[in-house]
Amino acid sequence: MNMRSAIRTAVFPVAGRGTRFLPATKASPKEMLPVVDKPLIQYAVEEALAAGARRLVFITGASKRAIEDHFDSDPELEQLLHSQGKSDLLNQIRSVLPSYAACIYIRQPAPLGLGHAVLCAQPAVGAEPFFVHLADDLIRSDVPCLQQMAAVYAEKRASVLGVELVPRRDTERYGIVEVEAPNSATSRIRSIVEKPKPADAPSRLAVVGRYVLAPAIFGHLEKIGHGSGGEIQLTDGIGALMREEAVYAHRFEGKRYDCGSKLGYLQATVEYALAHRQLGREFGKYLHEVVRTRPRTKRK
Ligand code: G1P
Repeated sequence: MNMRSAIRTAVFPVAGRGTRFLPATKASPKEMLPVVDKPLIQYAVEEALAAGARRLVFITGASKRAIEDHFDSDPELEQLLHSQGKSDLLNQIRSVLPSYAACIYIRQPAPLGLGHAVLCAQPAVGAEPFFVHLADDLIRSDVPCLQQMAAVYAEKRASVLGVELVPRRDTERYGIVEVEAPNSATSRIRSIVEKPKPADAPSRLAVVGRYVLAPAIFGHLEKIGHGSGGEIQLTDGIGALMREEAVYAHRFEGKRYDCGSKLGYLQATVEYALAHRQLGREFGKYLHEVVRTRPRTKRK
């Protein structure tokens, strides 16, 4: 396989309705939920830019206009902040999207699954390797996760999936991979299965929302039918790709928060607040106090 060394395009499937967060997500996208002061989708874009992506492809659906507005310039707001002398905020607003990055929005016509969403990106991606980033999975790490994955790609010149160990009871929530060398950080994948029951799972290594994919994936996504849950599954497309070329799993360094669940989202909020430059100390004191003085609920 001949794949370019730099990965220029990142695909963000953002068409899902976020029903687990209703009513918060009734009229606004779940990707716009803030963790402290930035929406999830901005963390996603920053990670992709840090990994070298310059073309940002959003696969959108109903009620997602706020994402486009977020990455658009806002001369009225800029003028207001300027006239109020709020230069810090002005700089923050202006740096939401650097001028060297371009956004492309593609509407997924129907919610046919993650594989279908990725397939919708084909006209914008072309015949190059690309990142897929699921904004629900927020990852805090020293080196941004996609950058770690890009380094693996540069070495292997093959598709790479971000994976982590999950408790066996949770295998039903993820794509699960079986690898050749379970003790290595990077290993070739032997098999992949979408959301297996704990008893059927080939391992506890779960795919989280970070992928480097070879463009050959598109041909497979076109051909595979509806899989688990009646959807066109990215996992099935990757399974087909693996029959033709190597696909690697990489256990990235960092902590992942499942912001698609309320508990994971709250954990991210607390930990990002504790690490926040301006808020961290005060919030830490507050949290300590809350925990110390909270009324104890008796277990039955
Ligand atoms: C999707 C993928 C699954 C992957 C997960 C990571 O599932 O289908 O293979 O493990 O993302 O978050 P979803 O969470 O959309 O159900």
